[in-house]
Amino acid sequence: MTGSDAQFPDLDSHCVLKIGDEAPDFSARTTQGPLTLSDLRGKWVMLFAHPADFTPVCTSEFLSLSRVADQFEKMNCVLLGLSVDSLPAHIAWVEAIYREFGIRVTFPIVEDASMAIARAYGMLDPLAENTATVRAVHVIDPAGMIRAVVSYPSSVGRSVAELLRLLAALQAVAEGNRLAPEGWAPGEGLLLPAAETESEVVATGPAWFHRVAGDAAS
Ligand code: BEZ
Repeated sequence: MTGSDAQFPDLDSHCVLKIGDEAPDFSARTTQGPLTLSDLRGKWVMLFAHPADFTPVCTSEFLSLSRVADQFEKMNCVLLGLSVDSLPAHIAWVEAIYREFGIRVTFPIVEDASMAIARAYGMLDPLAENTATVRAVHVIDPAGMIRAVVSYPSSVGRSVAELLRLLAALQAVAEGNRLAPEGWAPGEGLLLPAAETESEVVATGPAWFHRVAGDAAS
């Protein structure tokens, strides 16, 4: 056992995908038919794992996501729900949501009964007594690269408004050389990387480490 293995004996048993990793490809059944992740190249993908169908917080998240699904679509982003529940369970849940709330969940929910996808993405909750997936979000860029990972416990719902903001910010900085400051929203100014040369520092002045870009992103 190496030094780091001794410190982190369980590390190898949990796959942890990082920002910059290629998103593991998969083919699966979904509520909208069969889907292969790599067929979505050219689009952003928000892979939205939830612990279980027919649960309170997950239902609130899917209601909110469905209300703004058109905004994700306008931003060239495909929403993909995922849990280890079966396809019949997913279908029964979205039908129940429509019956009780009048809201259609039109984006696909991926069936992962074998947990192969959840394992590959490190979505299994080590604290859960069962095989529930954590509230993980993997934002995948049009080239299939992971650009953000969000992880919440089963007891706390995610903010759909923040996920929209995160997607907008990732898209605004995707070309490089621009940074999104705290709370950045579309239309607001982005930042430039800190000045790196003496002449840049002299030209920029004392706030060389916080330079607002002249252009505004939309
Ligand atoms: C929920 O979505 O409400 C939930 C899911 C799993 C465990 C606890 C709560």
